[in-house]
Amino acid sequence: AEPLRVAIAGLGTVGGGVIRLLEVNQALIERRAGRPIEIVAVSARDRSKDRGIDISRFQWVDDMTTLGEIEGVDAVVELIGGSDGPALALARRTLAAGKAFITANKAMIAHHGLSLAGVADAQDIPLKFEAAVGGGIPVIKGLREGAAANEIKRVYGILNGTCNYILTTMEQDRRDFADVLAEAQALGYAEADPSFDIDGVDAAHKLSILASLAFGSELDFEGVATTGIRHLIAADISEAQALGFRVRLVGLAEADGDGLLQRVRPCLVPMAHPLAHVSGSLNAVVAEGNFVGRLFLQGAGAGDGPTASAVVADLIDVARNEYGPAFAMPVGSLARPPRADSGDR
Ligand code: NDP
Ligand code: HSE
Repeated sequence: AEPLRVAIAGLGTVGGGVIRLLEVNQALIERRAGRPIEIVAVSARDRSKDRGIDISRFQWVDDMTTLGEIEGVDAVVELIGGSDGPALALARRTLAAGKAFITANKAMIAHHGLSLAGVADAQDIPLKFEAAVGGGIPVIKGLREGAAANEIKRVYGILNGTCNYILTTMEQDRRDFADVLAEAQALGYAEADPSFDIDGVDAAHKLSILASLAFGSELDFEGVATTGIRHLIAADISEAQALGFRVRLVGLAEADGDGLLQRVRPCLVPMAHPLAHVSGSLNAVVAEGNFVGRLFLQGAGAGDGPTASAVVADLIDVARNEYGPAFAMPVGSLARPPRADSGDR
């Protein structure tokens, strides 16, 4: 069968993981996809950087915004990051060229997901972003497909691996915030600008995407009331523990009258709640549906292997020609979320 020919923009933590995964699991991926998935072109900032992977077998492209315009490329995977700039230019040019677009970039999806989905859906081109929320957890698929028959009442969870790693390490080792953040960065969990992690912005990007999928509403990142973990000290965490709680950065979205309540903030989670036992860089998402009841999805929320797993799952869907509208339903039919006063309760 004809291979799916893929171009990859970004060869850092996630890009490197995708190249390794496609190589190690090549045979089983081909069987599951029904055809080979082949990387044909790559791009990043620095061609000569030692990445510990052999990229000499792929075509190197200096201007990565053109990857989707290369003849023979069927799908572009964007693993650069940033809500605007080159990542967005690449997305627009790729969709304009009629090629499939796969991304792990939650910042871009939270800000521009609907305009990109409008272009993709209108042409029946896949726009996929499983890796953008929850790392390796199939949470987009879970909400968009698995829970599609339900009215969702509430969706909440631990959406940032860096913060969860920091909070659980501070708790276990009674260590200072700054040391632990440096460790999370060294492990490849943090964003290029780690203030996005610790100030709750990354979790808010992800929450707005989950809320749109869960409630069939338009993306509303600006409507997420957001507080991060920067101000927490080890004593806050040990005092909470003495009272029977763990501190977790929780993102929650729920229908609230006519509005949609969306917030990200550090919460005291009782030990008896499953979220209290989500440790290290793990993430977890709880969704409550009117027929399915409570779904609890947990897994690695960051890092090269788990994130690559989600990216390649999207590629397999594209290779099988299995995809629908980018969001829960076609963009034109999404409801506009009336603003709830998310901050004051
Ligand atoms: P890295 O910083 O490790 O890698 C980024 C890559 O993008 C590098 O290869 C870099 O090139 C390239 N790049 C950056 N700017 C440009 C540019 N202007 N033009 C061309 N190439 C550029 O990031 P990650 O792999 O960690 O993250 C990539 C994306 O995946 C982000 O959107 C992130 O939010 C998302 N993500 C990350 C997860 C993780 O655990 N790390 C998990 C889920 C999503 P060079 O190497 O030459 O410097
Ligand atoms: N910086 C993000 C996190 C990466 O720590 O969760 C995964 O999206």
